Amino acid sequence: MKATVSRQAHFNAAHRLHNPNWPDEKNAAVFGKCNNPKYHGHNYELIVSVTGSIDPETGYVYDLGKLASLVQEHVEEYLDHKNLNEEVVEFANLNPTAENISVVIYNILRKHIDSKYTLKITLYETPRNFVEYGGN
Ligand code: NI
Repeated sequence: MKATVSRQAHFNAAHRLHNPNWPDEKNAAVFGKCNNPKYHGHNYELIVSVTGSIDPETGYVYDLGKLASLVQEHVEEYLDHKNLNEEVVEFANLNPTAENISVVIYNILRKHIDSKYTLKITLYETPRNFVEYGGN
């Protein structure tokens, strides 16, 4: 029997979406307000989902306390109140879109969660815009 357990988390961060290979007009047209040269913030809502077999001894798929600690230590403390472009090395040359932030979060957490579990990241950049990423 398989089940999925999830932990919800939150962080605030600033970013700017920009392609340095494009002229300013194209950046403004493609990225709109997210191209603001002075940056701007989002209240990100994160859902980290782990799928695996229910352990017959514990009844758990994955210890949610452990998952909460992993997310807090490696994601929330790493990204909260940061300027993603300037302070988070993964975005030095990577546009910090919700898609790419999801991939970065996935790659960080994947190292700490055994490969027998399936990992999925759901990231809300606004209450109505969200991205899902589950590897590959
Ligand atoms: Ni934005």
